[in-house]
Amino acid sequence: MSAERHRTSKKASFVVVANRLPVDRVVNPDGSVDWRTSPGGLVSAFEPVMRTHRGAWVGWPGSADDDLEPFTHNDLQLEPVHLSAEDIEFYYEGFSNATLWPLYHDVVAPPTYHREWWDRYVAINHRFAEASARVAAEDGLVWVQDYQLQLVPQMLRQLRPDLRIGFFLHIPFPPTELFQQLPWRGQILQGLLGADLVGFQLPGGAQNFVRLVRQRFSYETRRDRIRTPDGRTVVARAYPIAIDSTGMHELAMSDATAQRAAEIRADLEDPKIVFLGVDRLDYTKGMPERIRAFGELIADGTFDPEDAVFLQVATPSRERVEQYRLLRDDIDRLVGRINGDTGRLGRPPIIYLHNSYPREEMAAMFRAADVMVVTPLRDGMNLVAKEYVACREGDTGALVLSEFAGAAKELRQAYLVNPHDIDGLKSVMATAANDSTRNKARRMRIMRRHVFEHDIDRWAESFLDDLSRLGPGTEA
Ligand code: G6P
Repeated sequence: MSAERHRTSKKASFVVVANRLPVDRVVNPDGSVDWRTSPGGLVSAFEPVMRTHRGAWVGWPGSADDDLEPFTHNDLQLEPVHLSAEDIEFYYEGFSNATLWPLYHDVVAPPTYHREWWDRYVAINHRFAEASARVAAEDGLVWVQDYQLQLVPQMLRQLRPDLRIGFFLHIPFPPTELFQQLPWRGQILQGLLGADLVGFQLPGGAQNFVRLVRQRFSYETRRDRIRTPDGRTVVARAYPIAIDSTGMHELAMSDATAQRAAEIRADLEDPKIVFLGVDRLDYTKGMPERIRAFGELIADGTFDPEDAVFLQVATPSRERVEQYRLLRDDIDRLVGRINGDTGRLGRPPIIYLHNSYPREEMAAMFRAADVMVVTPLRDGMNLVAKEYVACREGDTGALVLSEFAGAAKELRQAYLVNPHDIDGLKSVMATAANDSTRNKARRMRIMRRHVFEHDIDRWAESFLDDLSRLGPGTEA
């Protein structure tokens, strides 16, 4: 992949600001440099948006102390923000991923509150705001992404009052009682109020935000509108994020993917049923629950290990944060125990891959899997669920989906499940695997229609249309 350097940034009238650039800079042992697609749903959703809308992308290149010039990569204008090793420790691993991430995911792990992490979060948000202010053209539109950058809208407005500013939160916005735990709750709310439009995955998140603003600051609010003391109107609304359904489908339907899917099934020794899980290795994703449920289904004879295989892909993530290290050990132990107890030579019931794979390979896995198992304890949306639906041939396949994923609000025809309830999970996984072709097709047909109609282009258009009607000096 080619990367071309520029000494100075070109001004852009459309700017996306996210913690990560869409590619990570990887230095190989021989000193050569590669660019690898960054992990997570945000980047996979936003790549196609940027291709349609052009513009610049401000973000971190994924490693410490890289002082990079702005550059073009695969036709995208990238504006790197430098982070030192200590910035990464305090701002990214600390405040973003050991304070905000667990707090916003219903405290499924305990959040840690440290004042020096907060101070660094403020400083780095400022750095992102300054980088965005430098690259945005006069009267341009800047779209800030996700929990790592919640102070950027306010900081950017102070630097550049001419801009239209949007913000979208990719993860859940917590219930008001949980959000109130945060020692810096007032500053975060004020940070977000710097935007003209604040987008959430679900209406409940937008409502929680408006309620908090009303309670804490006594600002006037009316439905999804907030009136700020400086006379602006801020709108808070839900925009459930989507995928490039057509692109994923075309990739999945190609001859190369069909062949690769067949190879995958053959490598698994052609079992009758392939269950699949694909997640970042994150404690919000409910991986131990689903693996335990599958292990019990094998142990109690519901499935014969000769017939059923569970393929679990876990993409390495945030490996220096303690909760992630603990989770990895837990899963290693769990998979080892189940395979040790119930497998035979050359036929372990669980195939566990701790690795990341390109889109092509993921599409082949989705195509190869009879039952996709998506069981987060809490998830903003979960794009893997939508990708599975888009990658199926005809109306085949079955999706087991947690009620606590944002996607469950749209994909109502999935086999919905409460992942905390292991017996319930077992019974839903068995039903999904054994249901009639007709029932599965009926469910899949409705979900497919939804995923194709509500694609990422439509999502971006609806956010940007709303934002362009708001903005400096306009009444919503
Ligand atoms: C989630 C978050 C993104 C984040 C991604 C990967 O999708 O919403 O903001 O980029 O996870 O996590 P990482 O910490 O590796 O960027």
